[in-house]
Amino acid sequence: DWTMAAFREQAIEEIRAKVGREKVICGLSGGVDSSVAAVLLHEAIGDQLTCIFVDHGLLRMGEAEQVVTMFRDHYNIPLVHVQAQDLFLDALAGEMDPEVKRKTIGRLFIETFEAEAKKIGGASFLAQGTLYPDVIESVSFTGGPSVTIKSHHNVGGLPERMDMKLVEPLRELFKDEVRVLGRELGLPEPFVGRHPFPGPGLAIRCPGGVTREKIAILQQADAIYLDEIRKAGLYDAIWQAFAVLLPVQTVGVMGDGRTYEFVCALRAVTSVDGMTADFYPFDMEFMGQVATRIINEVKGINRVVYDITSKPPGTIEWE
Ligand code: XMP
Repeated sequence: DWTMAAFREQAIEEIRAKVGREKVICGLSGGVDSSVAAVLLHEAIGDQLTCIFVDHGLLRMGEAEQVVTMFRDHYNIPLVHVQAQDLFLDALAGEMDPEVKRKTIGRLFIETFEAEAKKIGGASFLAQGTLYPDVIESVSFTGGPSVTIKSHHNVGGLPERMDMKLVEPLRELFKDEVRVLGRELGLPEPFVGRHPFPGPGLAIRCPGGVTREKIAILQQADAIYLDEIRKAGLYDAIWQAFAVLLPVQTVGVMGDGRTYEFVCALRAVTSVDGMTADFYPFDMEFMGQVATRIINEVKGINRVVYDITSKPPGTIEWE
C-alpha cells in the first residue's frame, strides 16, 4: 500500500525530529496499536527506545507471555516486563465507579512508566498508540453541556503533572489503517488481526468491583469463548469479542444441589472503527455450545447471557 508506505516514512521523520537524541519509553499493552507504535518507533530511533509492558493483573489468559515473547525474542526490542499486579489490584480494591477505576489505572500506569524511566537513566518522552477515534471520543460530545462520556482510552487517564512529553505517532489513524501499517512494518498477521483490548483491561469487564478471584473466573470464561470463536473460524469477522463477569449471582442446579454463582455476559460486535457497532449474530447452536463449556469448565459461573445491544445507544464495553 503506497499510501501507508508514505505515511511510514513521514512518521519516522517526524518522530526523529521531535525526539532528537532523547530517550523514549513506550507503554506496550499487547494490543495492536501500541505494538505498531513500538515497532515504528524502533525503526525511527533504534535503541533510544525502551518498551515497558506493565502487567496490571487485568490481562487475558496467556497474554503477558505472548507479548513478551514477540517483542523480546522476535523483534529484539528492549522490553521491561513490570510485574505490577499487586499495585493495581490493591488500588482497585472495593472501587465500584467505572470512571474512578479508569483514572486509578491511568495514574498507576503513569507512575509505573515514570519509575521505569528513572531506572533507565531518564526518558523525556512517553510514546503511546493513541488513535484518532480515541482522540475524538475523549473530547466531548456535542448537544447540551460539554459532557465527557468516558475518560476514555489512552488519552483520558493521563495526569497533567506527568513529567514526560507525549509521542503519539498514530494519532491520525483509524484502526484499519493501523493494521495496514502493522503489515507494512512486518508484524505477524495473527498479531495485526487481534481484536482491540482496552488499556484498563479486565477491570472494565468486571463491573461492580474487581477482585483477584473475579478476574481469574473472567479470564477462564473469556479464553473458552475466544477459543470457540477461533475454532468456528469467526475471529476475523468480529471486531471484538469478550466475556463480562456480572456482579450478580443466580440460582442453578448441579446434580442434587443448588448452586449460587455469577452470571457471565458474552459480547461480540462488528465495527469499522469502534465508533459504532452491531452485535454479532451467532447461530444459537454455537451460543449453546459456548455456554455449556463455560458453565461446565469454569467454577463460579452458572449462567451465560448474550448482549444484543448495538452502539449507539450502547457502548462496546460494559463500563
Ligand atoms: P466503547 O466501550 O466506548 O469502546 O464503545 C470503543 C472502543 O474503545 C475501547 N475502549 C478503551 N480502550 N481504554 C482503552 O484503551 C479505555 O478506557 C477504553 N474504553 C473502551 C473498547 O474496547 C472499544 O474497542
